[in-house]
Amino acid sequence: LASIEVNVAALQPGMSLTVKWRGKPVFIRNRTPEEIKAAADVPMAELKDPAARNANLAPDAKATGIDRSGGAGKENWIVMIGSCTHLGCVPLGQSGEYNGWFCPCHGSVYDTAGRIRKGPAPENLAIPTFSFKSDTVIQIG
Ligand code: FES
Repeated sequence: LASIEVNVAALQPGMSLTVKWRGKPVFIRNRTPEEIKAAADVPMAELKDPAARNANLAPDAKATGIDRSGGAGKENWIVMIGSCTHLGCVPLGQSGEYNGWFCPCHGSVYDTAGRIRKGPAPENLAIPTFSFKSDTVIQIG
C-alpha cells in the first residue's frame, strides 16, 4: 500500500502539519519540551486507554509519553491519524484542557501525546506505521 514521505525540516518546536495519507488526515507535530514533559509526567493509572495504539510497536505496548512519540531521541515528534476514535471527526490541535487535541463533535479531550483523557472517545488517537528516512524526512506507511 502507498506510503508517503513528508519533509518536516521547517517544523520548529510547537509547529504542526497535517498531511493526507490513505484518505485520512495525519497530524505531525514537533512538540515543545513542555508538551513532552506534560505527557511524560502523567501516571499510567490516570489514562483511560493504557495501550500505545502505535502500529510501530507490539500490540501490548503501553501509552507512555515515549511510546506515543517518535521514540528515543525523537520524543518531540508526534505522528497520529487525525480521526477521533469516537465517531471519526477531525480533532483540533493545541486545544482543550490538556493543550493537546479537542474534538468539537462531542467533546473528547486528548493530551499532548494524543491520549484520550475525557469525553466519549474510547481510544487514544491511532499512530500509523512511520519511520524517519533522515532527521527531517518522515515516511508514513
Ligand atoms: Fe470526536 Fe465524537 S467524534 S467526540
